Amino acid sequence: YLANRSIKNVASVVHGGGIGGLNPSDCAKAITEGAILGLYKFDNYKSKKPQGSNIDKFSIVEVDKTKITDIKKSVNEGMVFAEATNLCRDLANEPGNIMTPTELSEVALNVGNSTGMEIGVIDKTKMEELGMGALLGVAQGSVQSPKLIVMKHKGDQANQENNIGLIGKGITFDSGGISIKPSLKMGDMKGDMAGAAAVIAAMKAISTLDLKINVIGIIAAAENMPGGNAQRPGDIVRTMDGTTIEIENTDAEGRLVLADAVTYAKSLGLNKIVDVATLTGAIAIALGNIYVGAFGNNDELMNMVVSAGGSVGENIWPMPISDKYTDQYSSTVADFKNTGGRLAGSITGAQFIGEFSKDLPWVHLDIAATSRSESNSGWNVKGATGITVRTLIQLAKGLSE
Ligand code: BES
Ligand code: MN
Ligand code: ZN
Repeated sequence: YLANRSIKNVASVVHGGGIGGLNPSDCAKAITEGAILGLYKFDNYKSKKPQGSNIDKFSIVEVDKTKITDIKKSVNEGMVFAEATNLCRDLANEPGNIMTPTELSEVALNVGNSTGMEIGVIDKTKMEELGMGALLGVAQGSVQSPKLIVMKHKGDQANQENNIGLIGKGITFDSGGISIKPSLKMGDMKGDMAGAAAVIAAMKAISTLDLKINVIGIIAAAENMPGGNAQRPGDIVRTMDGTTIEIENTDAEGRLVLADAVTYAKSLGLNKIVDVATLTGAIAIALGNIYVGAFGNNDELMNMVVSAGGSVGENIWPMPISDKYTDQYSSTVADFKNTGGRLAGSITGAQFIGEFSKDLPWVHLDIAATSRSESNSGWNVKGATGITVRTLIQLAKGLSE
């Protein structure tokens, strides 16, 4: 409620950390995150900025000198977590004409420059060499060329096995392709790269905190458009691992780009992966806009992801997968088709991605219903929420300790 008031300086005590009896550092971190997240604004394109809406200084005050060192550390960490979340929001709020796959790769390169992370960008020619037919198929209807962005935080060089891969769906605009979406709210599909934005932002924070773990971020960036060269329903594509897929609906494009991204992740020798994707409208029917849906093949990794979410205040609920659903996306002409019917749409979408991770421990987070907020509420501001950024950082932090 400090937003949009003509207030320039704010001071807060460490709420909860005194007679509240809570850990003062945790409270200071929560206040820091709450302030930075709640005061977020996306006004890059407003010629007239709303007046008196920017706070210059936010202070946290504490009288007990013995607590100051811990509090300072937590405030700094809170800033990294919250600023990464706001970076994710910025990227997902940018319109599709600006935030193209190429622009997304430029953002990743800039993050690499500022943190020292190694960034690689696989372009269309290299994708063809690698046989990424599913990712290329999605991108072929657009004049924007696809990019597979690879960000490497080498935090534990002596122990290469200590690693995790974070994979993001980066559809910079999802028109649906030839299976075109209805026009109502189609503009929201500029946010179909929220998973990619979460991964880029989390990678920035992981690198800034210099966590003792090797983390590779992989972003499958493409635009899904119905151009003259667009892929058609009925087409059959071949993925990097040789699997054939019948395209039943060109609007089920997320699982296609992720199929190749997951295969690529496996080729890098990662021993666990988490993907984040605005994958299905059906997740809103299952969980509303409160919980992120989590799917996976490994209870240990699932528990770590869910508890990381819980500890940062991002709600994640485990959902089932089962080979009893596999028939729903079997094809008569190819190995799979890219849709699984109306029933359990989020599960079949998730399982489709799981077909490519195979035995590799994997968790898929469906953020289609939670990546945008329709109103200001709590620390969320209307527009992109930055969901899963803090979960991913916390997950890497937990694994590094
Ligand atoms: N990007 C959409 C999912 C989505 C829907 C995200 C609403 C955010 C808000 C995804 O690519 C999509 O179109 N999914 C289809 C899958 C279907 C064709 C099997 C869907 O959910 O309808
Ligand atoms: Mn789609
Ligand atoms: Zn999509």
